Amino acid sequence: MDDAWNEGYVTEIGYTHGYYRELSPSLQRFALLAAGYAPPDEGAYLELGSGQGLSACIHAAATPCDIWATDFNPGQALNARQLLKSADIEAQVFDQSFAELAQRDDLPKFTHIAGHGIWTWISDTNRTQIVDVLQRHLTVGGAAYLSYNTLPGWGSALSLRHMMCLHAEVAGTQADGVSGQIDNAIAYVQKLVQTDALYFRTHPEVVERLKQIQGADRYYIAHEYFNRNWQPMHFADFAKWLAPAKLEFAASAHLLDQVDELNLSNEAQALLKETGHVVLRENLRDFYVNQFFRRDIFLRGCRKLSALEQYELLDQTRFALQTPWASIPLKMECPVGEVGLQEAVYIPLLELMAHDAYRPIRLSELRAKLPKISMPQILQSIKILIGLGHVHPAQDEKVVEAVRSRTVRLNREICRRARFNGETMFLASPVIGAGVMVQRIEQLFLLARSEHEGKPENWARTAWGILEQQAYRLKKEGRRLESPEENIAELNLLATAFAAERLAILQTLGVA
Ligand SMILES: C[S@@+](CC[C@H](N)C(=O)[O-])C[C@H]1O[C@@H](n2cnc3c(N)ncnc32)[C@H](O)[C@@H]1O
Repeated sequence: MDDAWNEGYVTEIGYTHGYYRELSPSLQRFALLAAGYAPPDEGAYLELGSGQGLSACIHAAATPCDIWATDFNPGQALNARQLLKSADIEAQVFDQSFAELAQRDDLPKFTHIAGHGIWTWISDTNRTQIVDVLQRHLTVGGAAYLSYNTLPGWGSALSLRHMMCLHAEVAGTQADGVSGQIDNAIAYVQKLVQTDALYFRTHPEVVERLKQIQGADRYYIAHEYFNRNWQPMHFADFAKWLAPAKLEFAASAHLLDQVDELNLSNEAQALLKETGHVVLRENLRDFYVNQFFRRDIFLRGCRKLSALEQYELLDQTRFALQTPWASIPLKMECPVGEVGLQEAVYIPLLELMAHDAYRPIRLSELRAKLPKISMPQILQSIKILIGLGHVHPAQDEKVVEAVRSRTVRLNREICRRARFNGETMFLASPVIGAGVMVQRIEQLFLLARSEHEGKPENWARTAWGILEQQAYRLKKEGRRLESPEENIAELNLLATAFAAERLAILQTLGVA
């Protein structure tokens, strides 16, 4: 598993082509505003450990930011560079390690430095290098976003991971490859469960986790559990790490974490209110919700906004609904149990956001048109809808027009790649400055539509022409559809539904 440059990081199995909206500058801006902090300007943005680079490519196309990214895996850096080149989009992508990057003296001052899913899986030495990058290259007022596995959530599973890695290290052979070593390690630990090891009996939730691991994608499992380094952390320790870079906690980029009513009982909320110290308070909150994963924004210089300033800035912000409104469930599972979303608030709000072909709407307009709903209620609903992935803050109209042609080029290239595989499931929206999930089949429909317009049945036929060559078969209700007729019929249904339900929203988002 170990090469000279990879420091025990799994590099035999490439990382998935994921997109993470918490990395988007527009979402971070709203998260900070909603928590009452002044967000940074959108200038130079550095993504650390950018993986296959899809988030960096999308942000390079869809935002006004000057995007820089590094990932020490050259295959992954190459993937991002090729995508950018083929779409004729400018960004700086390197295969440098954090240590190499920290030593560079030609970097700009970044307004944003971000890393999704890296902090937990690297050594203390590399964490020190990241802090060094933050210290030297984040501008005053700049935002640092880092996500990481958190304690106490991961506490009981630490030993499960230890046992699986120990088996892979001492009993795995190179001939097994990483996937084989992982399969053998999982089977070995499964034997411990079957032979009634007291550890598993004491921690039934770990047995559940093992079941999930057995069914999960091996790419994900390799990167989540089998790196040499894996260090879930309490929030207080994380905050101590960032202190030398003069960084202070400002907000969670996971908006549901900002809504106390979903996470904490009344008693817990009262205790948190009494806790003045921000580090103690956040740590306490993690105990109440048994936090597994935090998505934190720290600022180099926290400027608290007055309520009036905060409301003014929020009022000017536009929001785009991304999901057909009638399909949004009005209840959700949360740490406090099942919560119903108040129909008297959500139905008029969603109707209003959908009514003009889902065009983004300013918060001031929402307020004016919903006089019976208070600002705190509207703000809370928007936070929840963003947290659930149904809404995203939109960029200013001028920015949307400035970046539109870049997103068209990137999306065309991603849709072309969908002819070969389904690795990339996101397209870039100039309207929200972020990625939008669009599955491979939908990308093929968009490709067909851009090449010969036509009706849904033409898109279905074109998609089938591509899929058939690769012996790809669709599934319906868990059953593989074998005959061409069945596949074409299913594609017709999918294309018709896509044209009726999704296409208009994607058009408004500038994705189609
Ligand atoms: C779990 S992946 C996350 C990738 C990406 N941020 C995402 O969420 O899709 C962590 C990434 O960090 C990169 N990485 C790990 N250690 C690194 C180092 N010392 N310098 C640069 N990149 C590193 C790995 O190659 C890997 O792609």
